[in-house]
Amino acid sequence: MLPLVLTWALAFDAPQAEADMKALLTNGPRVAGTPAASQAAEYLAAELRKVGYTVEFMPFSYTRTRDLGSSLSVGSANLQANAIAGSPARRLEAPLTPVPNQGRAEDYTGLDVQGSIVVVRRGGIPFLEKARIAAERGAVGLIVVNNGPGNVRGTFGGIGPIPTVTVSQEEGEPLFGQAGARAFLDVRSVTEEVQGRDVIAKRGTALPQAVVGAHYDSVPGALGANDNGSGTVTVLGLARELAQSPISERTWFVWFDGEEDGLWGSRRFVEQNQELVQGLRAMLNLDMVGVNVGGSLGIGGSSSLQALADCNSVQVSCGSAAEGGSDHLPFAQAGVPVLFFFRGLDPNYHKPGDTLYDVNLLADTAKVVRGILEGLFRP
Ligand code: BES
Ligand code: ZN
Repeated sequence: MLPLVLTWALAFDAPQAEADMKALLTNGPRVAGTPAASQAAEYLAAELRKVGYTVEFMPFSYTRTRDLGSSLSVGSANLQANAIAGSPARRLEAPLTPVPNQGRAEDYTGLDVQGSIVVVRRGGIPFLEKARIAAERGAVGLIVVNNGPGNVRGTFGGIGPIPTVTVSQEEGEPLFGQAGARAFLDVRSVTEEVQGRDVIAKRGTALPQAVVGAHYDSVPGALGANDNGSGTVTVLGLARELAQSPISERTWFVWFDGEEDGLWGSRRFVEQNQELVQGLRAMLNLDMVGVNVGGSLGIGGSSSLQALADCNSVQVSCGSAAEGGSDHLPFAQAGVPVLFFFRGLDPNYHKPGDTLYDVNLLADTAKVVRGILEGLFRP
């Protein structure tokens, strides 16, 4: 009877996870650098200290540009335009020059774009490269037409040379037939300094052999229940259930901040903990595990670590290609074996509707991750 009781006592606590999620969502979107993100970090720290962890905050800063509402009009038509993050803010009026294809250097052959606003299609090369190519030829602005339905939110991943916006395919495609039309482009954005902090929970004094992590920040306008309240709460539950286990003496639990702005929390963690990172046998990252899109838990990453999972189970699908970028990437780039746990791109991804999650899926995820940790540390 005893082992059964022990197993039960150490199981993932679903009602507690519901309470955790409620606490996380109550202050609004956890955008890095905002009070809601800070409150989330404090909540995690308090909960972890209750069960005996030493908690540290790892502070870091970075710059972010925020679109304050940009606009574009061509002739009498107003188009919905999103500023590319990192675009300079400027108002300008200039003639339109469509450039065929995706705006590679060769697409400009025979075209004079000096002093004009260039129109190109999305894809093929990064936004920043499109902008540099246009700017080098004297263009004063750039419009990137989406290569699928609707509009996107792009980023230069740095500071771009000329004001640049994206427009939807529906509104943007007709621009290719409007060479010479007068266009007004108004890019309104602010650049701000963001103070982020990762939350680190540990028990032993030795360097860890494994890191289990999830980002706790979310995008503006979305509560981020699935992205990534789900991973946040699951890792918290795991830390609780493993608080008395030898596993937590060799594992750090880390909640990353600034993921949505470009993996800042995980990149800085890797940069600032080089020795620790070199000694890691595994980094397990949970991102969007509360809504089942493909019907199972996707596990991507290192095949040696996947071997520790029960890949034959109908509940998991190993080797699944990850759809998005997340915090395991900086670790993988540093040579650490990683696993990425996700349940697919749910329809409310980065939308106000990201308020849903299934607590049973969090429990199931915790079980799979725990099994892998047990396998990793089995003598
Ligand atoms: N949670 C997503 C990544 C994701 C997408 C996981 C689909 C599972 C399925 C993450 O928060 C995100 O939005 N990442 C960005 C990239 C990041 C560098 C800003 C992305 O995927 O576009
Ligand atoms: Zn995410």
